[in-house]
Amino acid sequence: MKLAERFSKLTKEEKINWVISTYTNNDTDSKTIFTQYLNSDETLQKLHDEFAENTLSNYYLPFCVAPNFLINDELYAIPMAIEESSVVAAAAKSAKFWLDKGGFKTQLLGTKKLGHVHFIFNGDKQKLHTFFDEIVKQKLYLETIPITKNMEKRGGGILDITLVDKTKDLEGYFQFHAEFETMDSMGANFINSCLEQFAKTFKRELTNADGFSQIEKDSLSVIMCILSNYTPECIVRAEVSCPIEVLNQENPDYTYKFQQAIKIAEIEPYRATTHNKGIMNGVDAVVIATGNDFRAVEACVHSYAAKSGKYSSLTHCKIENGVFHFWLDLPLALGTVGGLTQLHPLVKVALKILGNPSAYKLMEIVAVAGLAQNFGAINAMITAGIQQGHMKMHLFNILNELKATEEEKSQMVEFFKKETVSYTKVVEQLKVITNRIS
Ligand code: MEV
Repeated sequence: MKLAERFSKLTKEEKINWVISTYTNNDTDSKTIFTQYLNSDETLQKLHDEFAENTLSNYYLPFCVAPNFLINDELYAIPMAIEESSVVAAAAKSAKFWLDKGGFKTQLLGTKKLGHVHFIFNGDKQKLHTFFDEIVKQKLYLETIPITKNMEKRGGGILDITLVDKTKDLEGYFQFHAEFETMDSMGANFINSCLEQFAKTFKRELTNADGFSQIEKDSLSVIMCILSNYTPECIVRAEVSCPIEVLNQENPDYTYKFQQAIKIAEIEPYRATTHNKGIMNGVDAVVIATGNDFRAVEACVHSYAAKSGKYSSLTHCKIENGVFHFWLDLPLALGTVGGLTQLHPLVKVALKILGNPSAYKLMEIVAVAGLAQNFGAINAMITAGIQQGHMKMHLFNILNELKATEEEKSQMVEFFKKETVSYTKVVEQLKVITNRIS
């Protein structure tokens, strides 16, 4: 192996050649795949190249759509970018199930985003608090006007800034805890720019302040300025409900088992993790299709799931007056302007399909996708079991891996209409069919 010298300065072809010769023993197939996945439209390819650094090729995910989602009495087809075969089918099935039962209802519970200036100050705490309240706070607002004025025109801006004493947890640790409204943008750049300005203003104000000793002034160390991806007050609820008889039609135990499944996920972290993973199958797929940051969403959602100190289910259910209620509270910081949303051509199409929603409408749609996914998973597990539907959808992956021809595929699909799919059975049956055909 050799070190890459000035790698980012190489042309794309040089980068591909270097990677192929250094790490694949000059495997020509790998090189062909890199080039096959490039787009022949050079402008489009350049756009994708520039999303990141050292782009060698494109990484495709299926762009799918789950139709028939009735959300607050409006019909949606939800775009989903995902590779897991059963996810879109499960979403579409849940959408159809709830279609004639009033569909999904949503409620925006909060839109507040957060950021912090984390700093160390080893001086008089009371003086710091007074200085913050009387001098610093208003200066922070004033000196961020060049950053906030456009956001304010759109209805957003800085909502509040507080000085928080964290010295019990770490010696000298304080923070400015700032709250923001960022409207249709996810807000990361806006928030971070404000925070960095806060730090500059604060440092200068403290340096020039009369009431602090030189030792106190010198003790100030701004450690970092960064938004928090934990946004428990930027949160949406998605819900479905119907009379229990409707659910218990085929199986009188249905709602009982459903409720127990949710209770188990609420109290058992081993189950809660898988349960929430299923929710995130739906959530991430829409987040990715709409060009949002799924890592931020994942980080936030799992912190929220552990907010009581114990990791727990994100969905809940109850039966009240004979009516089954099933809901999901999901903290989400999303954007429909900025970032990839106006750049990635497929993202633009995804947003168009959704009627160019506001960020808040998108939060509602994403939460619905998560709730639908969880409903689909629980429904399958408490009835036929998860493998039936899952393996049926997975059949094509196995057949592609085994390099089945189109004719073999259609015969296999026919065969597995009445059989449970397993890898071994697919291999066996493919042999039977191949021998029959040849
Ligand atoms: C698989 O991707 C997701 C499930 O495991 C979710 C769940 O168990 O609730 C089916």
